[in-house]
Amino acid sequence: MSTDNTISTGVEITDEEMRSIQDAIMKRYSIDFFNYEPKSFKRRLQRIYRKFNFTSSFDLWSRTLKDKDFVHDFINEVSVGLTSLFRDPEFWQTFKKVCKDHFSEQYRINVWHAGCSSGEEIYTSAIVWDELGFTGKVKSIATDISSNALKTAASGKIIQAKLPEYERNLKLYQSNARLDKYFTEGEGGIVFIPKFLEKVTFKNSNLIMEDYGDNQYDIIFCRNVLIYFDGPAKEKVIAKIYRALKPGGFLIIGFLDSMLSYLTDEKFEYYDLRQRVFRKR
Ligand SMILES: C[S@@+](CC[C@H](N)C(=O)[O-])C[C@H]1O[C@@H](n2cnc3c(N)ncnc32)[C@H](O)[C@@H]1O
Repeated sequence: MSTDNTISTGVEITDEEMRSIQDAIMKRYSIDFFNYEPKSFKRRLQRIYRKFNFTSSFDLWSRTLKDKDFVHDFINEVSVGLTSLFRDPEFWQTFKKVCKDHFSEQYRINVWHAGCSSGEEIYTSAIVWDELGFTGKVKSIATDISSNALKTAASGKIIQAKLPEYERNLKLYQSNARLDKYFTEGEGGIVFIPKFLEKVTFKNSNLIMEDYGDNQYDIIFCRNVLIYFDGPAKEKVIAKIYRALKPGGFLIIGFLDSMLSYLTDEKFEYYDLRQRVFRKR
């Protein structure tokens, strides 16, 4: 039977071993994984053990130190990219209204997708902006720690098998909306029509390590990313987001992100708590 420390290969990962791997990555690559929630980080390590046939934490630790390229595989496995087009359809109805009410008159809208994964959140917001006639005026930056996820996001490619799920979500968002206006047959599968990604910049970036400037963004999406972070890391990232938002700018988090205690009333207006929309005061 498996416990939190035991992986299916029969090898146990103790807290000390987990920390020594985090320590090796920090020392060798200056990448900080200390703030990930331990249980969930151990589960990611289990996946890495299975995928790369490691038989002990020592093997993983020494490969981390010796093989410079391995860190990319490591990061891609540690990050969990679960996402969907029109994920939480009701939220997107609220989002459309927020944009219509607050940005119709604005000439330029600056947006940051923090933890964009394989791009579905970017495509969804682009569809909403197209519906509102905002396409040319939205400039976005999309960041993620996973280079694989970013590559997929920038390519616009979607997995064909996920189309029924996307269509279901889309219908829940708006019953007469159609996907074929936004996706087309491209090289090697179905792709999001490139003109909708023209003003999106993709950037590999670790939320914990990087600074994102002051008063830059009208909207920041940080949905279902901080869920894997511990309290101090959440606090740190929320402080960066707060600084990066313009006064009156909107922060959008995921339904499972438990971080209300960090979104203090003094800094954020709870604009729509049910749909997880907050506004910088
Ligand atoms: C579950 S996905 C969320 C995708 C999208 N925001 C959504 O809600 O559908 C979480 C993403 O956060 C990224 N991520 C995890 N830790 C990160 C970090 N420290 N810095 C930047 N991105 C990170 C993962 O690589 C993954 O793509």
